[in-house]
Amino acid sequence: MTLRSVLTGTGSALPRRVVSNQELAQTVDTSDEWIVERSGIRQRHIAGEGETTSTLAIEAANKALAAAGLQGSDIGLIVLATTTPDQTFPATATIVQDAIGANGGIAFDVAAVCSGFLYGLGVADAMLKAGMAKRALVIGAETMTRLLDWEDRATCVLFGDGAGAVVLEARDVAADGPGILATHLHADGAHNELLYVDGGPSTTQSVGHLRMKGREVFRHAVVNLADVLANVLAECGYTSADLDWVVPHQANQRILDATAKKLGLPPERVVVTVDQHANTSAASVPLALDTAVRDGRIQPGQLIVLEAMGGGFTWGAALLRV
Ligand code: UT7
Repeated sequence: MTLRSVLTGTGSALPRRVVSNQELAQTVDTSDEWIVERSGIRQRHIAGEGETTSTLAIEAANKALAAAGLQGSDIGLIVLATTTPDQTFPATATIVQDAIGANGGIAFDVAAVCSGFLYGLGVADAMLKAGMAKRALVIGAETMTRLLDWEDRATCVLFGDGAGAVVLEARDVAADGPGILATHLHADGAHNELLYVDGGPSTTQSVGHLRMKGREVFRHAVVNLADVLANVLAECGYTSADLDWVVPHQANQRILDATAKKLGLPPERVVVTVDQHANTSAASVPLALDTAVRDGRIQPGQLIVLEAMGGGFTWGAALLRV
């Protein structure tokens, strides 16, 4: 038997307001054709009045708890990945903790932008295996649209808001049983100027706007993601042919296609939500995971890999049996 962090429930939440490319093209110098052709995005959800990173995170967390048959008081650890916290401090995880009634356990945020959920999963997995808690909620939640410069058509058409959550439980399982098998995380701080926010408490004392050199980010994303996927599979003695599903970060349909091609993966085994949700940063992987669990594509016993790449750069992949 081996101690693993086992996925026991998933949940997600989206803001009420859906904005199509056509609607965006009424106020931004762009077109549905350009956005679909270059990114695969058709619509995004945009947070409105009363909707924040924490309200979305709480809804996703409650759905994941219900799916796992648990209550907030059963959770000893909350790791919330976000770039768009409700407040600079305290951590948005503590707001979620209070709302779900998990008070007294561990709760903190991680900041790794689009890779945040992978970082959160890796940290929670290590803490569960170290015995620091029995059950964890890992949440990716964002209101990225509140960081956008709506005059910059090269970025403002690409992002959306949402949240996704998973419940993990430390369990002794057989070698071929469920749980997280490996997580690989990386960062390379040399690329700050390719994807960043031009503000912050310690520099401008303001929030700032998202800035991206899209073409260069694209090139790095395909190389880094193909590498980290190949490495996490190799560490566990698997090849891409063994995978039932890839659940990628949803930044661009062309990145999903190019990465799958590099690994020799058929497109039918890649979970795609970028058309519906756009890029929701740390929320995109758990949102896509919950979508594929709830529509029945992901089934118990299957081997799946989660992957993401984002600002920093940061990137990572996690291999797990569900
Ligand atoms: O989540 C973190 C990771 N982020 C990513 O992975 C994003 C990676 N990058 C991308 O997804 C793509 O690079 C983009 C979707 C951002 C852009 O696609 P691209 O094919 O790299 O286009 P481009 O930036 O090179 O722009 C091509 C043209 C430019 O015009 P010129 O210079 O060729 O005349 C842009 O000005 O498209 C123009 N353009 C637009 N046109 C209509 C840029 N944005 C728009 C727009 N509508 N919204």
